[in-house]
Amino acid sequence: MKLVFATNNQHKLTEVRSILGNKFEILSLADIGCNDDIPETAETLEGNASIKAWYVARNYGMNCFADDTGLEVEALDMRPGVYSARYAGSQKSSSDNMNKLLFELDKINNRKARFRTVISLIIDNEEKLFEGIVDGNIISEKLGDEGFGYDPLFKPLGYEQTFAQMDIDEKNKISHRGRAVEKLIAYLQKLED
Ligand code: IMP
Repeated sequence: MKLVFATNNQHKLTEVRSILGNKFEILSLADIGCNDDIPETAETLEGNASIKAWYVARNYGMNCFADDTGLEVEALDMRPGVYSARYAGSQKSSSDNMNKLLFELDKINNRKARFRTVISLIIDNEEKLFEGIVDGNIISEKLGDEGFGYDPLFKPLGYEQTFAQMDIDEKNKISHRGRAVEKLIAYLQKLED
């Protein structure tokens, strides 16, 4: 089955293609000639995932899924959440976002956080949502060069390494996106039976 993954984020594409193997052919937005900057105007992860997936389904007539991810930090009342990409400002980098997080958590002992991913899947104009969560802690200095986003600061519960110190397979096994994609695969496999 051909499915569009409504992203041009190469890290996300690599992660998801490596989970799906050759079970499904995953096309990116670039692969379908979509260069639009799809506005993420919702106030929830569910809302933004849904906007992106419907945009492709409606404008390109293809089966599609989209994800939206947020880092939810307990001591910050679950911020930055849906605003994780723009936490330090809309023109800022992942490094700026991490620096802001370290600044806000300075002298705060409660470092509990979780990544939450929501995937919206649209097949034949019907939508289904899947959620994946991983709990962990924000450490006090960046460690590791793998992954992307906030990975160097996030140590999943029960592990001694940050996501940025793990290889892609290790991260995928336990990550928010990995867990949401596993639910997506289980659903797609039932459809194909
Ligand atoms: P979005 O899903 O692309 O909107 O991601 C929102 C923000 O969370 C961006 O700043 C990403 O860099 C960050 N993010 C998304 N997924 C991950 C991940 O797997 N690890 C670390 N940061 C992530």
